[in-house]
Amino acid sequence: MLHEASTLFAAFLLYLATQTVYRLFFHPLRKFPGPKLAAATSAYEFYFNALKGGKFIWEIERLHEIYGPIVRITPREIHIKDPDYYEEIYAPFSRRREKPEKFYRQFDLDGSAFVTVSPELHRERRAPLSKWFSKSATTDMIPIIYRSLDQLCAHIKKASQSRQVIKIDAGFASLTSDIIYGYLLGYPSDNLGKADFNEHVRDGINGILRQSHLILFFPIIPTIVGLLPLRILKLINPFMHAFVEEKSRVHDQVVKTLSGHRTNEGSVLEKVFDKGLPEHLRGSRRLANEAISILNAGTETTARALVVGLYNLIENSSIRAKLREELQSVMPMPESRPTWDQLKQLPYLSSVVLETMRLATGVTMRCPRIAPTEALVYEDHVIPPGTVISQISYFVMMDPTIFPRPHVFDPERWVRAAAEGQHLERYLVNFSKGSRNCIGLNLANAELFLTLAILIRQFDFSLYQTAEKDITFARDFGVPYPEDGNASMRVLVESLV
Ligand code: HEM
Repeated sequence: MLHEASTLFAAFLLYLATQTVYRLFFHPLRKFPGPKLAAATSAYEFYFNALKGGKFIWEIERLHEIYGPIVRITPREIHIKDPDYYEEIYAPFSRRREKPEKFYRQFDLDGSAFVTVSPELHRERRAPLSKWFSKSATTDMIPIIYRSLDQLCAHIKKASQSRQVIKIDAGFASLTSDIIYGYLLGYPSDNLGKADFNEHVRDGINGILRQSHLILFFPIIPTIVGLLPLRILKLINPFMHAFVEEKSRVHDQVVKTLSGHRTNEGSVLEKVFDKGLPEHLRGSRRLANEAISILNAGTETTARALVVGLYNLIENSSIRAKLREELQSVMPMPESRPTWDQLKQLPYLSSVVLETMRLATGVTMRCPRIAPTEALVYEDHVIPPGTVISQISYFVMMDPTIFPRPHVFDPERWVRAAAEGQHLERYLVNFSKGSRNCIGLNLANAELFLTLAILIRQFDFSLYQTAEKDITFARDFGVPYPEDGNASMRVLVESLV
């Protein structure tokens, strides 16, 4: 027995040694700059992301300082840090880009458009949904957004009367979650109706995102989690429990819709079915994962952007005053209800929204792609077809040569750039680019315009026991997290109505 075990162990060591020699001396990426350790083993990424908790992004930044704009960051992956090369990687459909299956399985959303490898299958899966998230569909959604915003404002007004502290991060997550749940699935989850909003609304997404680095290396984890009795899972990991529960709730809703149940308002899911979805796209598990990807992507990213926007508007009284003055042109009364179109015409508000999206970042994961048939060329490097390649959008939006003093909230930079004829928006890559960009960008945009306008016109906020470190990006779990816990922001409010 001992003899067999030691033979197995020796075989394993031999395998590792052979693999290392191949990766260092014979692999097509052997000549690319970067540390030998990262080229030899993915344990390098594991150490920074899984053991240290979402810190690989800072190591990648450090490697670029040493090795230059192109670095081999894992045995099979190249990272480029050059804003002008972004659109080469995140290219349109005509320049075939795939997503690496291994990377995206960490989100446990099998069958969704988001994790689909092939561009053709991705197009098939995304097409039935796209029209419900277009600009004009989003314009039709404005009453839905206002309905939730009214609830948020009523809550804030009540708190202002009783001088009660508000956990506004939970308020924003409840707002974005209620909007997307109502629109996509047709049932209001009514997180805004709860006495202190719903602090737990993000537990599900936090559950999966916080485990995602581990799942990348141990993809068996979701299967094991799925086998555990819910009671036990809740004891071991309440956040993963919330994710599993959310999946099951959404799956039940999908099954109900598939079997003909219809809501009064008509959800996107119902409309997609009623328009005739091909049989191979109608699996209830696949559809539940599709819905979860939209619900989760539609909640946390925009909620965080709202936190970052409001935080900076509270901290910068002159910016806030200028914005409020501009808002008065389309909102003569604090409770006026401007249209999204009216708000988009306001140059200063538009700059505030752009700057908010830049600083909030949205997604901090690498969003890797593969050009399966095209050899990409960067400076004098030819990147072989089939290589995994990425450029983290945070680096583009924090590049000091494009956005001087990048950590400063400076809406005027967009005004100055426009006056000088510069197209700074090209580098605002928070929604990514190309055929795999964000499907919800119009919705996110509308939510930001409306919410910031309404809140700044109706209320005066002050921070309560909240410091910059409570929202500052320090750990990457797909989206930005602060050093400790989740982004959190508490405020006191004075009503201007
Ligand atoms: C400020 C807010 C948001 C930001 C910064 C953001 C950012 C992104 C990014 C960078 C991607 C590409 C991910 C990748 O390459 O793997 C993406 C994809 C996606 N986003 Fe968003 N997003 C936001 C809001 C939303 C909203 C409101 C929705 C709801 C509809 C949404 C739904 C999705 C979906 C479904 C995908 C996958 C699209 C596909 O692969 O076809 N996002 N988002």
